[in-house]
Amino acid sequence: MDSIKTYIEAHKDRFIAELIDLLKMPSVSADPAFSQDILHTAEAVKAALAAAGCDKVEICETPGNPIVYGEKIIDPKLPTVLVYGHYDVQPADPLELWESDPFDPVIKKTEEHPQGAIYARGSCDDKGQMYMHVKALEYMVKEGKLPCNVKFMIEGEEEVGSESLKWFVKNNHAKLKNDVILISDTGMLANDTPSITTGLRGLSYVEVEVTGANRDLHSGLYGGAVANPINVLAKMIASMHDEHKHITIPHFYDKVEELSREERDEMAKAPFSLEAYKKALDIDDVYGEDGYTTTERASIRPTLDVNGIWGGYTGEGAKTVIPSKAFAKISMRLVPNQDPEEITKLFQDYFESIAPEGVRVKVKPHHGGQGYVTPIDTVAYQAASKACEQTFGKAPIPVRSGGSIPIVALFEEELGSKSILLGFGLDSDAIHSPNEHYGVFNYLKGIETIPWFYHYYAESVKK
Ligand code: BES
Ligand code: MN
Ligand code: MN
Repeated sequence: MDSIKTYIEAHKDRFIAELIDLLKMPSVSADPAFSQDILHTAEAVKAALAAAGCDKVEICETPGNPIVYGEKIIDPKLPTVLVYGHYDVQPADPLELWESDPFDPVIKKTEEHPQGAIYARGSCDDKGQMYMHVKALEYMVKEGKLPCNVKFMIEGEEEVGSESLKWFVKNNHAKLKNDVILISDTGMLANDTPSITTGLRGLSYVEVEVTGANRDLHSGLYGGAVANPINVLAKMIASMHDEHKHITIPHFYDKVEELSREERDEMAKAPFSLEAYKKALDIDDVYGEDGYTTTERASIRPTLDVNGIWGGYTGEGAKTVIPSKAFAKISMRLVPNQDPEEITKLFQDYFESIAPEGVRVKVKPHHGGQGYVTPIDTVAYQAASKACEQTFGKAPIPVRSGGSIPIVALFEEELGSKSILLGFGLDSDAIHSPNEHYGVFNYLKGIETIPWFYHYYAESVKK
């Protein structure tokens, strides 16, 4: 197994070049204008899996974007690892804030990445992290080091809610049968502080519409006499947090699991510098729920945030108008046990109940998903932990993340398997933001660590 280092040394330039080719394909799932690019990217992933040594590769059609499936079954009696990742990416805008073209990758050195980082949309989330698994497979197949069976399932709708994947998983239990799911679509604490993600937040995403008069009105003739939907919406949104930054929706916290003092003390041991956090974000203070630390606020506590708000006149100059409508997109990050559908319903009922006379409101639910927590005393977690210890020279810290990968809870429900979230991104890699990047160190470290996971996992399952 030590040959992985030599293999990477010999092939790293090609590994980087191949990833750069994949990053040139603008596989944006949110915008139908890129649907051809989605199909080309799926084809490229399929070809890469075949080249890496899968025996069977296919593009699986779905009601939406295709799913790329590949497998290498060496012995049906051996355990099977299912690798999940996504080839779709977030939209690149606002384009003017990128220092280089989001789909023409460049390598630049940064403070966090002295060995250089690849700048491109999807470099970290998730093409770069997904492709580490393809290259790790290549190594294991070519050097005869694959100790168990492997299946790949790479989807193209993660950034828009994984609807087609839900359908695919429900209808393909036998095909997707596995012993553990391995995912690199999260982060780690720092390049010298490995960590493994043990939890994800759930999500309920809604869009609201507030309507006043049947048309935009002259704000002098009508101002003060009819409801202004934007004023009303702003007030409704503001009232959804109290002075302790608690969410005011009745029963919102009913199922939230309070962690014990011991668990919170354990969490607090992970290295975290509030000063560095504020400096990295250029803020003079943090903001959040009373009684919780920044790390807790961003992982084990639920949230309600406006993601976008619009209405009325936003063009050049001043136009005196009372708009007819106001809109907002609102996300609620949930913690395990909170049910996204239940929360959406609670939101809807509450939002309707606080609407004042003179306006009508509508709530449109978007996608959602359950949160996830995984224990660390499993064979698979221990294998991932040993793999990191092997390649970083340090045991990884278990960390609950604030992000969401809604499909992970569904994997457990439908396929009965736990997921290991072995991510190599950094918070500073700017995923979903302009200038997303992924460290060359992180990319190669991932390729080095993954075969060790297979090694330790297959070894302990055998016992
Ligand atoms: N890879 C991210 C999720 C993530 C990133 C989890 C870093 C933990 C650490 C994923 O692609 C993502 O962006 N998920 C969305 C949810 C989805 C339903 C759009 C999210 O978290 O906003
Ligand atoms: Mn992702
Ligand atoms: Mn994402």
